[in-house]
Amino acid sequence: MTAASERFDPFEPGYVDDPYPLLSELQSTEPVFFAPSIGSWVVTRMATVRAVLRDTRRFSARIASDPLTPLCPHARAVIAASDFDVPPLLVNNDPPTHPHYRAFFGAPLVRERIDALAPFIRETVDDHLDRLTAGPSPADLVAGLTWDVPALVLMRLMGIPSEDVHQVKQWASSRVVLGWGRPTEDEQVRLCNGAVDYYRYAVELVRRKAEAPGDDYVGELIRARDGDDSRATLHEIAAVCFNLLFAGHETTSSAAANLFKAVVADRPLWQALCEGRQAGMPVIEESLRFDPPVQSWRRQALEDVELDGVVVPAGARLLLMFAAANRDPATFASPEAFCPGRRNAPQLVSFGAGAHFCLGAPLARLELQIMLERVTARLPGLQLAEEQIFPYTPNTSFRALGRLMVRW
Ligand code: HEM
Repeated sequence: MTAASERFDPFEPGYVDDPYPLLSELQSTEPVFFAPSIGSWVVTRMATVRAVLRDTRRFSARIASDPLTPLCPHARAVIAASDFDVPPLLVNNDPPTHPHYRAFFGAPLVRERIDALAPFIRETVDDHLDRLTAGPSPADLVAGLTWDVPALVLMRLMGIPSEDVHQVKQWASSRVVLGWGRPTEDEQVRLCNGAVDYYRYAVELVRRKAEAPGDDYVGELIRARDGDDSRATLHEIAAVCFNLLFAGHETTSSAAANLFKAVVADRPLWQALCEGRQAGMPVIEESLRFDPPVQSWRRQALEDVELDGVVVPAGARLLLMFAAANRDPATFASPEAFCPGRRNAPQLVSFGAGAHFCLGAPLARLELQIMLERVTARLPGLQLAEEQIFPYTPNTSFRALGRLMVRW
């Protein structure tokens, strides 16, 4: 056991509160190490994380969304007895089939379709701010804004009724725990039952859309398929919808909460944003670097590989630690400082890199931009409430803030 192996446990409460000091220390002393706490090799340097992401020959994405904690027999039985069937197509797929599915499912996410959502995003944010400010201050900005808005936007994109938003958010939060957390056996059974309902929701959505395709993302896929299963089957479209009902908002909700937590606390920066002396986009990019909503992502080594002088064996599970890579001093000077407008900001790895680079990054950025614009315009006196604790869901990969108390 090395020192890093003994010390690293992403479920340890101090780490959950603030992972950055330990990650920074381990990055300089043992940039690649085996973590028995999660049965994975942790990779922390930017150059190495990027090299692994770009190397689809030696590293597979197949394990990207497998449960970190292996399912107990009862939980496996729940899945086995159901019709649950989600084939690997995008985030957990590899060449040769991944490029085909990425082209097919990415095509409708064109810039025009994303930009056309801007008025809806603005309206949704304003409705939420109306409701928030009609209530008492302090209030929770997560419950009042950042939790719902990305899900409502994604559901609009996909053509799903907005009244399902609470159910969709609940399924997505459960998926964080099932895929990246440490649920007990009883929890696993409950979460697997939820996952089956959530899968059936996606299947039913696609069945309805196939009968009457609308002018939305799912309708566009059905038209592009044109009855030809070699392009994509209806079952594959349902599988992608199942995944998007998670990937397409959980991450953006967390990004928004992390953004407001950082910028509201920095009074000169907040003032500059509110007075129009500081542009919003560089602040958003810096917050994605500084406190990434996806803290780490998985790959599996397909052969023995040497990474930063450490031999990682074939079959090893890798946790690529974006939270550490984004603060690698070899890439970003003074990485602990929040400095909007870094010259090399595009090097951040928060949306991944290479073959699986996030297909929703333009939408996520647009949502963050509009949320920041509307909140600075309407609540320039916004402050973090004093003496609050910041509750994060314990898991390896999603920095999901449960509450952010603010006053205005
Ligand atoms: C701030 C918000 C977001 C973050 C931080 C984020 C992050 C990520 C990351 C880290 C990956 C894996 C990259 C890799 O393996 O190299 C990914 C993939 C993906 N994301 Fe996002 N994402 C966000 C928002 C979204 C949104 C809004 C959508 C949908 C509209 C979306 C759809 C996808 C899809 C479909 C993939 C799989 C791409 C592939 O495997 O080819 N994401 N995202």
